[in-house]
Amino acid sequence: MAQAQTSKDEPDSAAGLVLPHIAAMAGYVPGEQPADGAIVKLNTNENPYPPSPAVRAAIEAACENLELYPDPSAREVRACAAELYGVDADGVLVGNGSDELLSILVRSIVAPGAAVAYPSPTYSLYDTLVEIRGARAQRVAWGPDHALPVELEAAPARLIFICNPNAPSGTIVSTDRIEAFARKREDAVVVVDEAYVDFADQNALSLVGRLPNVVVLRTLSKSYSLAGLRVGLALTSPGLAAQLHKVRDSYNVSRIAQAGALAALRDQPTMRAHVEQVRRTRARLRDELETLGFEVAPSHTNFVLARRPEENLAGLATALRERRVLVRYFTALPDALRVTVGTDAAIDAFLDALRDIGFSS
Ligand SMILES: Cc1ncc(COP(=O)(O)O)c(C=O)c1O
Repeated sequence: MAQAQTSKDEPDSAAGLVLPHIAAMAGYVPGEQPADGAIVKLNTNENPYPPSPAVRAAIEAACENLELYPDPSAREVRACAAELYGVDADGVLVGNGSDELLSILVRSIVAPGAAVAYPSPTYSLYDTLVEIRGARAQRVAWGPDHALPVELEAAPARLIFICNPNAPSGTIVSTDRIEAFARKREDAVVVVDEAYVDFADQNALSLVGRLPNVVVLRTLSKSYSLAGLRVGLALTSPGLAAQLHKVRDSYNVSRIAQAGALAALRDQPTMRAHVEQVRRTRARLRDELETLGFEVAPSHTNFVLARRPEENLAGLATALRERRVLVRYFTALPDALRVTVGTDAAIDAFLDALRDIGFSS
């Protein structure tokens, strides 16, 4: 799925060993993960605070049994998530990150050549998953003020992704609107990707099970500070979950990941406290960026999208990097930078770098 580094001696003829559409594709480019720990890292929406202390203890205990395969369907994690979110455990799937669950959904629902629809711009991995499948992406531009586009209602696709809150805009669509949309699209599976929803004030849990075509995706990578553990959750109707289970690898989530996930989900106060801190810093970051002349839509996530309409901010991203601050620049959104909400100290370093570059109030 991801772009690999090709060594100079590796002949291009390897392209002939794979399917033509795979050879033709570029591969997903994840945000940079620098080896240099001193860098201020605001580019991949990780949580700047550590996970629950209970996670380490649980992982250590899980190391006792590594000679044994993990529980194939992560029953304890599913039961815990079901209780926490008020859904049926039979409708819960655990994945190696929610990225794996997205891949399972594409492979289960979309035939090569068929369409997958989503509002755009959005999480760019959707494009990559569609390309790998040899399917077609039907990207529908967000409506005014990032409203769910009406055109999506007529999109000839059996799988529809709605990233909510959306990345990289940070904007959110109301649950009522998503419910009305999913009711109109009973012919399709509507995936509400809620990777960032713990940083928002609403979520689509009330739709799970009630609307059998809705899948809500969650991740422990953001609010639970566990990007390194790789755990995601799909919450849906038991009937659809049973179909999706057939497509995932039998042991897709390791013993260590299951143990850590369980401990994290059971410690809601730690997650909530860190989310609250991120939300406070987010408000300050937005204010400061606006003072420095950026346009920043209210964010419902752990990042903000800072825009300078009509400008190209590639140079600014480079200038920040030279000052040891990493943010995310997307060629598809040249007038914007996506900035993860880090600790207050990290945000101060970012703002200082902007002032050093020449931005002033
Ligand atoms: C919108 C969205 N969905 C899913 C993911 C993937 O999360 P995970 O780490 O659980 O694979 C991300 C990660 O950045 C994301 O931004």
